[in-house]
Amino acid sequence: MSDLRRFQFAGSILAGDLLDLGGAIRICEDAGADLLQLDICDGHFVPTISFGEEVVRRTCQVAQIPVEVHLMVSRPDDWIPRMAGMGQFRMIFHIEASQRAMGVVQAIVRQSMEAGIALNPETPPVAIEPLLPYVRNVCVMGIAPGFAGQKLLDTTYGRVTEIRGMIERCRSSATITVDGGVKADTARQLIEAGADILVVSSGIFQNPQPRESLRQIRAAIQRTAMA
Ligand code: DX5
Repeated sequence: MSDLRRFQFAGSILAGDLLDLGGAIRICEDAGADLLQLDICDGHFVPTISFGEEVVRRTCQVAQIPVEVHLMVSRPDDWIPRMAGMGQFRMIFHIEASQRAMGVVQAIVRQSMEAGIALNPETPPVAIEPLLPYVRNVCVMGIAPGFAGQKLLDTTYGRVTEIRGMIERCRSSATITVDGGVKADTARQLIEAGADILVVSSGIFQNPQPRESLRQIRAAIQRTAMA
């Protein structure tokens, strides 16, 4: 593993039992997730609807690990005041959803949170370049947003490497998250491409032993590292 960059797992409860959110949060924690990513789907930017600010508030109250919010919403400007102050350390919004992304970054930072910028698979990485000095995270979608359980798009690896290069060139402190399609057979290559954080949802909740899932992915990464 020595040649691999350090990385973290973010658990996403989207593929969990939405009637037992507390149980889903515990499963992510017991599985060894380093943080939780809460996916806010508005039924407009993405076709699905997930949950809103009260779920964010309660999750932040009960979670034993840091919580970040991934806004898959149109007009993220409107959501920042609604979602602020619930206890999450970071809010991520989509470049495709905002005409004034720098203003959204500033609004998040004013609320004492870290700002992250997400981009969909068809969005050219250059679209986020002007924001890199100001955000602390870039969330690279490995799938079409809004649904758990999709297969990682092969183009993701190259996109992560390209964004890693952009981050280094402008000396940004931003970390790179890959969201969607992270499984035992994709995780190592994503880390090698330059990812710092891997979001996992169906890889946890569709595993027959959810509490062992992240350890299994970690072990698979180590096995391929030694092969
Ligand atoms: C999808 C969400 C992801 C999703 C990942 O739009 O942002 O967090 O839950 O799901 P998996 O891990 O199943 O690809």
